Amino acid sequence: MGNLRRIFYVSRADASLDGVTVKNIVLKAQRTNRQMDVTGVLAHSGRHFAQVLEGAEDKLAVLTAKIKQDKRHTDVTVLFDDPISRRDYGDWSMGFLYDANLCDEIEKALSDSTHQSHDRDGALARKIFLHISDLARP
Ligand SMILES: Cc1cc2nc3c(=O)[nH]c(=O)nc-3n(C[C@H](O)[C@H](O)[C@H](O)COP(=O)(O)O)c2cc1C
Repeated sequence: MGNLRRIFYVSRADASLDGVTVKNIVLKAQRTNRQMDVTGVLAHSGRHFAQVLEGAEDKLAVLTAKIKQDKRHTDVTVLFDDPISRRDYGDWSMGFLYDANLCDEIEKALSDSTHQSHDRDGALARKIFLHISDLARP
């Protein structure tokens, strides 16, 4: 197994996306990720996605290339891509949570990255990441 990494990105969900499509994304992700030993969580704000992906570097490279090309979302913006020594979501091939309160934070992260006005110290990225961890482990 290659080096373990964690990738965290945010994106804008396609406007026509419905609950059935989101559910299908999660079911497919759970199946495929289990085979690749990828773990993580997908958060949906209603208008955005935020996803944590943990796994071997080579597996994540293939998976994130596919995810970036997926037409069901746009503006995929990677907020972290770091080596890790242990997983946060080791029990979840792909957890899922919904929280409309994520909308404002994710929108700000996306617009900061468009305007290059950046979250240079990564404070907003960490805030969104921790918000999701809190929801995932109440
Ligand atoms: C927001 C979002 C998150 C996704 N997460 C995963 C994932 O964790 N694992 C996965 O296999 N596919 C995920 N997908 C689906 C992939 O983009 C792609 O459709 C899938 O890997 C199918 O690949 P295939 O063409 O090899 O069948 C996600 C799609 C979206 C829109």
